[in-house]
This record gives sequence, C-alpha cells and structure tokens, in this order.
Amino acid sequence: MKIRFCILVLILCCVPVAWGQKSVSPSLTIERPRLEYLENPMGITVQRPRFSWILKGEGRKRLQTAYQILVSSSDEKLGQHQGDIWDSGKVASNATNQIEYDGNHLASKANYFWKVKVWDEKGQESEWSTPASFSMGLLNFSDWKGLFISHGVGYDKTDKYDSLYLPPARYLRKSFTANKKVKRATAYATALGLYELKINGQKIGDANFLPGWTDYNKRLYYQTFDITDRIRQGENVIGAVIADGWYAGYIGYALLVRLDKVREFYGVNPSFMGQIQIEYEDGTVETIASDTSWKSNQGPIREADILMGETYDARLEQVGWDAPGYDDSNWKVPKVYTYPEGKLEAHPGTLVRNRERLTPIEITEPSPGTYVFNLGKNFAGMAELKVQGPKGTRVQLRFGEILKSDGNIQTENLRLARATDTYILKGEGAETWQPKFTYHGFQYVEVTSYPGRPTIDAITGIVLSSIETDASTFNSSNAMNNTLFENIKTTQSANFFELPTDCPQRDERLGWTGDAQTYMRSATYNAYVAAFMTKFLVDLDDAQRWYGAYPNFAPFPYSRPNQYAPAWMDAGIIIPYNMYKVYNDTRILEYMYEGMERFMRFQEDASTDFIRPGGGNNWGDWLAVNEETSHDYIGASFYGYDAKLMAEMAEALNKKEDADKYGELFKNIKKAFAEKYILENGHTSEDTQTTYALALYFDLYPKALAKKGAARLAEKIEKNGFKFSTGFLGTKHVMLALSKCGYDDLAYKLFKQTEYPSWGYSVENGSTSIWERWNSYTKDDAENSDLNAKMNSFSHYAFGSVAEWMFQHAAGIDLIDPGYRNILIKPAISKEMDFIRASYKSINGTISSAWNWKGNKVVMNIEIPVNTTAKVSIPTAHISDIKESNRRLDKIPEIKVLESSEKETILEIGSGNYSFSAKVQK
Ligand code: BGC
Repeated sequence: MKIRFCILVLILCCVPVAWGQKSVSPSLTIERPRLEYLENPMGITVQRPRFSWILKGEGRKRLQTAYQILVSSSDEKLGQHQGDIWDSGKVASNATNQIEYDGNHLASKANYFWKVKVWDEKGQESEWSTPASFSMGLLNFSDWKGLFISHGVGYDKTDKYDSLYLPPARYLRKSFTANKKVKRATAYATALGLYELKINGQKIGDANFLPGWTDYNKRLYYQTFDITDRIRQGENVIGAVIADGWYAGYIGYALLVRLDKVREFYGVNPSFMGQIQIEYEDGTVETIASDTSWKSNQGPIREADILMGETYDARLEQVGWDAPGYDDSNWKVPKVYTYPEGKLEAHPGTLVRNRERLTPIEITEPSPGTYVFNLGKNFAGMAELKVQGPKGTRVQLRFGEILKSDGNIQTENLRLARATDTYILKGEGAETWQPKFTYHGFQYVEVTSYPGRPTIDAITGIVLSSIETDASTFNSSNAMNNTLFENIKTTQSANFFELPTDCPQRDERLGWTGDAQTYMRSATYNAYVAAFMTKFLVDLDDAQRWYGAYPNFAPFPYSRPNQYAPAWMDAGIIIPYNMYKVYNDTRILEYMYEGMERFMRFQEDASTDFIRPGGGNNWGDWLAVNEETSHDYIGASFYGYDAKLMAEMAEALNKKEDADKYGELFKNIKKAFAEKYILENGHTSEDTQTTYALALYFDLYPKALAKKGAARLAEKIEKNGFKFSTGFLGTKHVMLALSKCGYDDLAYKLFKQTEYPSWGYSVENGSTSIWERWNSYTKDDAENSDLNAKMNSFSHYAFGSVAEWMFQHAAGIDLIDPGYRNILIKPAISKEMDFIRASYKSINGTISSAWNWKGNKVVMNIEIPVNTTAKVSIPTAHISDIKESNRRLDKIPEIKVLESSEKETILEIGSGNYSFSAKVQK
C-alpha cells in the first residue's frame, strides 16, 4: 500500500514536469552581474553606477518583464534580502543593462553587496543572482592622508639624444604593528609613474602597469585592494616599488624625431602615494599613509623603462626588505613630491594582466652562444627567465617579431626602442626572474651570455593585455580565414594594453586615434571592451586640443602644434557612437557631448560651403597601395559621417534640436559633397577604391547614383585582380560597402585572396598576427631590410578591422537597436564559402549564427539570447521552401513572417535555438 501510494505521488509529481516541458519553461537564471561593466569592482568613484546582467533560459521567446535589485550594507543583510541601501522594488522593465543606481548616497570607503532577481514573460520569478559586491573609493579630498613620496636617486642625465638616461627603480617600505584582530583592511594606492604594491613579501593584486596612463596633469587613477587576509597580528610591512613608466620615462617617437623633450613628459621623479585602512574587530580604525615615516632606497632594478627595457642585478637584492624583521636602518627618509593639479579617480577600465603563459616551441642557435627562443606567436608581454650560474653573469634578452634569413632576430623595426632586458645573477642556485616595468612586442627572444646551454624552460612567454579576447568565435570553410581570425585576436590582445596602441614593439605604442576608430567595432566583437574603451574616451576627451580637434593619439604628451588629421580626429565621434550602439551606453555620450560639439564647430569653421578640406597631418588613406585618395576627399567624407552620427547621438540623448541641426548639416554636406566629388556617371572624381567605399558606406552618394558607384567599385576591384588598393581607411569600408550594395561574392573574393595585397598574403607567409603593411614580410625576402628598417610593425590591428565585416556580414550578426536588444541576422550566404560558424557574446548574451550549404539548400543555425528579438533574413522568396527543425513555418506560431521579397524572406523570432533550412534558387 505504502509503495503504491509512493508510486502515485511520483506519477503526480512527474506529470506537471512532463507537461511543463511543453508549456511552462523553468524560470530564468541570471549570470554575470556587473557594475560599471566590471565584476565586483573595488573603489569606484561613480555616484550612480550602472548595473547589468545576462539572462539564460530554456525554450523560446523568453523575456524579462520586471526586475528587482537589492543593495545592502553587509553580506548578512543581503542574505536576509534586506536592501537597506537600495531596494529598487519590482520594476516593470525589460532592461538588463545601463540601470542606474537610485538609492541612498554611496559613502566614501563603504562596501556594498547586491543581487538581482527577474520575472519572466509569464510572471515567473527567478532565483536571486549570486551575490555581487562593490566598494566605493576615497571620495573626499580629506579622506586622502598620503603624501607622494619617493627615493632621491640624483639626476645624472647626460646628453638628451645620444645616450639614454635610465634611472633605477625606487623602493619604499613601512613597518607597522597591528595588535588587534582585523575585521577588514583596504589598501588604496597610486603613483606618478608605475608602482607595484607589496605586503609582507607578497605582491598585492594581479595587475601590472599600475596605476595606468592618463594625462597626469588632469587626472590620476588609483587602485583599491582588499588586503584583509594579508594583515597579521604583530609587525607588518608595506612595500612599494616604483619606476618612471609613462610619467617620466621615454614615450613614443620623441627620441626618434628629436623632440625638445624625449622623456619626463609629466614629471621628473616617479613617486608613490597610498594608504592602508585597517578596521579592527573592536570598531577602531587605523590609517597608515605614505609619509616621511616610511623608508626609501634603491634596489636590484637598475633600469626600468617601458620602451628601453629593464636591468636587474640580483646581487643587489635586499632579502626580506618587504617583510617583517628586516633592518632598514640604512634606508633613507623619502623625499616628498607634490601632485600639481588634477583629479584622483578610480581606474574605469580593465587593467593589464598576465593572460597566458607560453612555452617556447623551438630553440635555435644562429651563432655560437646566441640562442633564439620561438614562442609560437607574436604577442605583447615579457619573458620570464630561468637560469643557474656563476654570480655576476649578465644574461641579456633581446626581442624580435621575425627572424632574418640568418636566423637572428630582426630588431631594426624597433627603431629606438632598445627593448633589452638584462639579468645579473646572484649565483645562488636556480634563479627565476621577470621584469616589472617594461614590456615588448615579440615572438622571438634572443638570449646571450647564458651560462651553459639553455633548455626549453629557460624562457617562458608572459602574455600581457588589458582584455580577454573571448567574446567571439569564427570558423569557416576556408582555413586561411580561420588563421586570419586568430591573428586578429592575437593582435588585438597585444595592443589593447592600457589603451588601444598602434603597435607594441617599436618606439611608438601610442593611442593612435585613426587606428582606434577604424578598429573600434571589430574590437567590440572580439572582446568585452566597454570598460576599456570608456577609459580611452576619457583620455581622448582630456587630449582634445583647445581649438576643438581631437589629436593624433591620446593621451597626448607632446607639445606640438596641429597634431590632428582627418579620420584620426574623427575618433572623438566614431568611438562614442559605437559605445552607444554596441553597449547601449548613453552616459558616455553625455560625457563626450560637449567636446564632440566643439569638434563639430572646429570642422564647421574649417569648411567652406559644407566641404571640410584636409588640414593637419597628411596621412590620407595611410599605407594604401597604388592609388591615392586626396586628403581633402577624406576630410570632406568624414565630416559628413560625423554629422550623420551626431544626429543619431543627439537623438539618443533626447536633444531634438541638435538632432535636427546635425540632420540638416548632414543633408547639406551630402549635397555639397556630391556636387564636388561625384560625377554624373556615378564615378567619383578621384576614382580610387577608397573614394567609393567611403562615400557609399557613409551614405554620401545621391540615391540615384549609388548603384552606379557600387558597380564602378566592383569593376575596379575586378580589374585589379580582386585585390585591394586601399590603406587603413579604405579597406574595411570596401568590404562593408560591397556587402551593403549587394556584392557579397566579391567581398568574399577579397576576403579569400592570398596574393599581395591581401590578408591571405600575410597568412601564407606564416604570420601569427596582423601586419602594419600589406607587405610587411615575405618568406622569400626575409631581409627586406630597407622596408623593415624604416617602419614596419608585425602587430598592428588596423587592417584587422575586417573583423567587423566578418561578424556583421559573413556571419550576419548585427544590431537593429543599440545594445543588441533587437538583433539582425543576415548572413552573406554565398557559393564562395561552404560554411561560416560564428558566435558573439553581446551585452545581452550569446548570439550565434552558422550557415552551410547542403546541395541547393542552405541550413542556418541560430541562437538568440533571452530577452531579445531578431529579424532573420533567409535567402529565398518562397515561404514554403523554408523549414525550421523540419517543420513548416505556418506550424510554428512563435515564428513570424515579416516580409518576403524577391531575394529574401524576413522572419521575426525570439530567444532560443533555431535550425532553418531553405531551398535557394541560385
Ligand atoms: C602609427 C600608425 C598611425 C600613423 C599615423 C604611425 O606611426 O604606427 O598606426 O596611425 O603613424 O599615420
């Protein structure tokens, strides 16, 4: 009887589950709770931080209809669902990002805990998200107790141009006693220069190159660390190592072109400022701040410069200097420095971290005693050295991206970046070392003066980057293009280093704005760059010239006049616009708006009858081949594009009048542009690939002539053997314009091309990265010395901007509304490829699009995230030819047919996985 009863209960319990699979989907789950784009950020300085999360849920057409956020002052309170700081209540909304905190004032130094739950389309409540946290930084001036301190090393700079000045790193220490039980301890730290913070012998945090690069005269970032478990009862020691970094070291090409200043652009002496706040169990609080009670000294880091490299003399190590029980009586009283002006804020971006460790794939010995380690790919970072040998042996490491034909590394293209690290052995068994304050762009490490013959583990590659390139996947039937995709990611990782740099190896490594704007959208596909680019936009805004132009690079440390150029300065419009489109971020638009308006006025002022001429630096379509597009044409077309984007951004900010104003301006520019540059037969007056690409993509073509313009572009490409004649500006726009105008097959031909100039050319020549030039290197001409010596980087992401086309068109993942709430799936299905499979982790969750041919049928597998809808374009006019999971469309109520034209059928779908197949008459 008992058993029978149990069986009955079991059946009754199971029935709703079985039914439930059909009609009731389980409630939604919440992932990746983030604040200000970051996971559990510490020490933020934003008063109304923005929340976001991602939803997962089985089934189709899943939606969020409401949410509730709780912010609590303690973990315990959050556990008891008490939002004592903020309880949003149940808010009827489908928003999952850009949700502003709207509770009590967030207090300086306070810790907060938060969670969120949501209601789905049927009103089903989710579980609470896993608890997340954030803390506020030191918000008031009076909270800061520290002084900027350093060690005086004298100043023996000799000749500015002919010898390098590379002062040693400075060491600071402070011993203090904690006698009571610690409840919580927090460290706040920054430096004018670079710093590494240590407590009781251990490095704090896992980031490098702190506090980051800003215009130090305007703002300085600091970091906040939870060090509760690092403080022990009794003596504790805080240690800080500081070096010149971007603040006082060599930056960019200043030495190469012999600027008045070659280093010390912001100040001469690096200094550290910080404090530790200890809250004891008994409620008392103690603050230990950097001041003259600390001790200072020099140490084993004899040279430390981002471009030039690091020298470490292990014989000078002072064992235990950063731990208790050390006798610092011969250390000095630190010098105090002043921080002139500027804001002190939390770093808004993502920090440089070790993302990967690489084991060499090969060691060669091109000449006796010279060993070359091949790390398998061209990346940014440093080499960790393992060595054992006699005291005083000086092992030298040099870095190269490629090898010369004699097997030696090529260093000519580093120009005046010395990029040399030296380790001097203390001679006490196995020694392991990696530098702290320098990095290099390289694939090969040359090791000389190594005691004995090194084994493969003598060198480890330490990959450094501010980002994780894990937001996308791309796979196609063309192996070369798959390698190209890997190369794009490798190069993005190497150059998203505190800011988007042009290259990581030579004496440059600057936040070049032209490169950044052209690559921006591609960058967003490959990595979650919202925080990283927010930080860069602050740099760009700070660097805006007094007359309104955005400069060639940001931060802009040089004092040189007229450092701007068409398509470079436009980064100030194009990057914020993409932040808005991709991340639905209107706050960054508000932040940039005043500057953007100033820039528009600068352009207006420079133009005559709505035509903005070139002006500034004349780079044109940088590194184009065989065809030259005039500087004026580029200036005029980007002005039009800016006006168009400004109208849309003003609209997004509800600035109706401005939206009309810029809309009108765009119309006028378009008219004037057509009159000046577009001929009656639809050709452009300059007739280069780039001229067509820009005008078509920027919508500057008169409607009646656009078809002819596109046809001419296609004809030119065909006549050119399906190859480019374009540079940094034209290339991606050729791809985008071709697909926009219906020439997908031709775009694929360029995409698959392997003859110079093409992407395939670099892949066929063995590249693991994106080159600066179409022809940076060939296997047959490894010397190619003239070109190499001049200016030739093997890690330049600008030509990698084809990623934008790969996702938007080849895979067909694009947005309709900002933030991918309404998605467009419109792959460029072509006989040029057998299949494309791609995925992208958008701010609303993962979007996948895969297509392949199956005879005359095309199969499309699509994944749409929860709480979004998508329009899907299927390349056939006959609805009856389309099946989803082998069912006819009219049998599937959740799929809506929006329209069917000669070429395509457009469906509307909600979240979930779909497998379409369609007969295609091609
Ligand atoms: C950089 C480029 C940059 C250019 C301006 C170069 O030195 O490496 O990427 O955009 O200067 O033309």
